[in-house]
Amino acid sequence: MKVQGKHIRSIWLEPDGWSISAIDQRRLPHHFAVERLTSCDAAAEAIRSMVVRGAPLIGATAAYGMALAMRADSSDAALEDAYRTLMATRPTAINLKWALDEMRSMLRPLSSSDRAVAAYSRAAEIAEEDIVINKGIARHGVAVIEAIAAKKKQGEPVNVLTHCNAGWLATVDWGTATAPIYLAHDRGHHPIHVWVDETRPRNQGASLTAWELGHHGVPHTVIPDNTGGHLMQHGLVDLVIVGTDRVTANGDVCNKIGTYLKALAARDNGVPFYVALPSPTIDFSVGDGIMQIPIEQRAADEVATITGRTADGRIETVRIVPEGSPVANYGFDVTPARLVTGLITERGVLRADRAVLSAAFPDRIATAAE
Ligand code: MRU
Repeated sequence: MKVQGKHIRSIWLEPDGWSISAIDQRRLPHHFAVERLTSCDAAAEAIRSMVVRGAPLIGATAAYGMALAMRADSSDAALEDAYRTLMATRPTAINLKWALDEMRSMLRPLSSSDRAVAAYSRAAEIAEEDIVINKGIARHGVAVIEAIAAKKKQGEPVNVLTHCNAGWLATVDWGTATAPIYLAHDRGHHPIHVWVDETRPRNQGASLTAWELGHHGVPHTVIPDNTGGHLMQHGLVDLVIVGTDRVTANGDVCNKIGTYLKALAARDNGVPFYVALPSPTIDFSVGDGIMQIPIEQRAADEVATITGRTADGRIETVRIVPEGSPVANYGFDVTPARLVTGLITERGVLRADRAVLSAAFPDRIATAAE
């Protein structure tokens, strides 16, 4: 998407043909900085420390991490070591395992002298495929938005609520939840406005989604996380679209902590609740999301402190919790399939249901079983 009129992706191969660069998302919205990754360990650290984040981008970064590993040492031992190192970075987003499995199963049978070239080529494909998938999500999702727009008065905006950042920064480009929003906005048939949940504790909504939408010219309003229910009760939300880190075979949806509460409020108020996802986010090996998906728990500091820019331009971190108060920091929650109106995928808008998902993605079931 565009930043100051210039087209940019969240991750790219440098002109040197081997090093990888990614936008450092920890520094947005106040600084636009790029981090250069030159080793598998650096790629792993970028995922762990959330230089890059968002399920599809975690997958793409891991794929490039494998390529960086193969460039340094393409032995069998190095391949397994890179897989383990990258796999240990974050536990919830299944795109990480999907991308690593893709890379490892393709690389294992190759002779070690062919592995580096093949790894870079597959990593580039994974990045390109992500964009193609997201454009598919945009096409199917925009029909949902336009159907709602058709029922509104001429000129009245469609109000979409989103949680966290499932935008282009969370993918290679376009985003998942934002892809239909960007397409609707670019088409210009109907005005669109986005309610952006700030998404404590890391503020991906306030810092990243708002930054993206602003740079693309999409009207939006940042709201504290607990505002959505009130807005829905007053008819100010037409639909919710969120992204996801993992969808189970049953259609349960794991996403950033707080998503479940939005789904409950949406159900109580008759607001459609959609989840946008690329097929590598479906985990056919898991059925019950609440019982089976590992939920990342992150450092207490993320809750106990807050970072921002002072009036004179300094970036400062301040404590907001009393010294000594214990803190819990669960990164994700699970929204049961029964609360999901539809899954917006590259193959259409689907019911969150095992039979429907299996019929739409038989190829993904086969890969999950390998
Ligand atoms: O902890 P994060 O920032 O990696 O969490 C990101 C999310 O929860 C996104 O909604 C999800 O990964 C979908 S991204 C298209």
